[in-house]
Amino acid sequence: MPKPQIAQHGRLIPLLENALTTHYDVIPLWSHPDAVTAALAYGRDAVGLVTSAPVGATCGLIDALPQLKMVASFGVGFDKLDLVALRERGVRASYTPEVLNDCVADTAFGLLIDVARGLSASDRFVRRGDWLKGKYTLTTRVSGKRLGIFGLGRIGQTIARRASGFDMQVRYTNRNPVAGLGWTHEPSLYALAEWADFLVVAAAGNADTHNVINSTVLQALGPQGFLINISRGSLVDESALVHALQTNQIAGAGLDVFADEPRMPEALWALDNVVLLPHLSSGTHETRQAMADLVLANLQAHFSGAPLPTPIPGL
Ligand code: 8YV
Repeated sequence: MPKPQIAQHGRLIPLLENALTTHYDVIPLWSHPDAVTAALAYGRDAVGLVTSAPVGATCGLIDALPQLKMVASFGVGFDKLDLVALRERGVRASYTPEVLNDCVADTAFGLLIDVARGLSASDRFVRRGDWLKGKYTLTTRVSGKRLGIFGLGRIGQTIARRASGFDMQVRYTNRNPVAGLGWTHEPSLYALAEWADFLVVAAAGNADTHNVINSTVLQALGPQGFLINISRGSLVDESALVHALQTNQIAGAGLDVFADEPRMPEALWALDNVVLLPHLSSGTHETRQAMADLVLANLQAHFSGAPLPTPIPGL
């Protein structure tokens, strides 16, 4: 039996690329300067496409693969996948939810503690030799504070559970209140920001959430408040955030994600009240292995005619 032919858009971790080439005839679109041109040239028989959350697939790429039946994406966010095009073409699609909840929640708390207690900033202080000249400035307590979570999905709930270990009060804003969980629902993002000491962004990136963290919300968070973002950069108005950090309109921010990764407003680099991470929240050996396993399990299910273990909702 010939191996099914699948196109690969963007690089993936080596263990997944190796497993894919064992089971499939892989067309590496990533090795060409333009994926759509490569798909038109080499992808006429490709029945599958493997991609990742940051790379996704445009309508143009989907159209360039006439036999496409299945897309497997490495990641939980599907903001870069053209779901309308997939639906119109009747293409199935999978993603990798759940397995990364813990590592993303751990990163949210890492950022929260880092920015409030000045861990990265004081590490720079020590390395500069400044401790020899005097003591580090006082920082902000984390335990017992108010944690506001925007988006109480799987990751938001995992973050909320972490908060009990720090005796924090938790409230959240979500499209709809989530029944049976015991945390207080705030009716608006503005009200949540006004209440919170720490506002954690955990909602999905889409047209409804674009730039919702704007200057009004940042003003509501206020000079004692910290913003943490482990979701997508698109939710934050980055110029408003830079201004808020430069003028101490908010106390600080911890950011794992940016609107135009790997680029970000360079004004952030000069600020000590922000912690900047290179979108690493799911990036542990254990979690990336689990994500790779899910990509492979979904492809295998598709090619054996079984239901997908983790289909993208609504497709
Ligand atoms: C990426 C993410 O998938 O899952 C997501 O939505 O943003 C990340 O986990 C990761 O960077 C792999 O490309």
